[in-house]
Amino acid sequence: MRDPSQEYQVGPFKTRARNLTPDNETGLGRFSERQIFNALRYGLRPGETPDVVITSTTPGKGNFPDHPKYIAPPMPWPAWRLMSDQELWDIAAYLKRGLKPVHNKVADSEGPPDFWASAYTPDKIGTRPPPPFPTANEKALLSVH
Ligand code: HEM
Repeated sequence: MRDPSQEYQVGPFKTRARNLTPDNETGLGRFSERQIFNALRYGLRPGETPDVVITSTTPGKGNFPDHPKYIAPPMPWPAWRLMSDQELWDIAAYLKRGLKPVHNKVADSEGPPDFWASAYTPDKIGTRPPPPFPTANEKALLSVH
């Protein structure tokens, strides 16, 4: 289904959030909980990323795809990369097992090409796992108060 009120304009591209119910044909039913986990942690499109344990964010290493296919903006996956494994597994389990499947084919997003995600480097968004509390910045702050 195409519903213009549900479209995002990302530069010249229209993107569309997908059917997150566990419908086998049009939703998450065809993906494993691990594929959904990898989508939330790394922004990898579950339909274009194999069902494997990923241990690196460097393409070609630790099962991270050589040519990663990323979920388009504005899906805020870069902001969730610091969530714990357990939180992401719980979301994946809820989507797969807690919702009734709804058959609804959403049109594909138009873009942008995947290289936009290469802007999200650790120097810009921090390392994962995050440094333990208190970090150097936080120590500096604590010492002035
Ligand atoms: C807890 C909240 C959310 C969860 C669990 C979630 C989960 C997902 C998953 C698993 C996909 C991939 C689906 C597939 O490929 O079949 C997806 C795609 C998408 N999400 Fe989210 N999402 C969330 C919030 C959001 C928000 C807040 C936005 C927008 C403001 C958003 C926008 C999108 C878009 C545009 C896509 C499709 C992008 C593309 O076609 O590449 N999502 N989401």
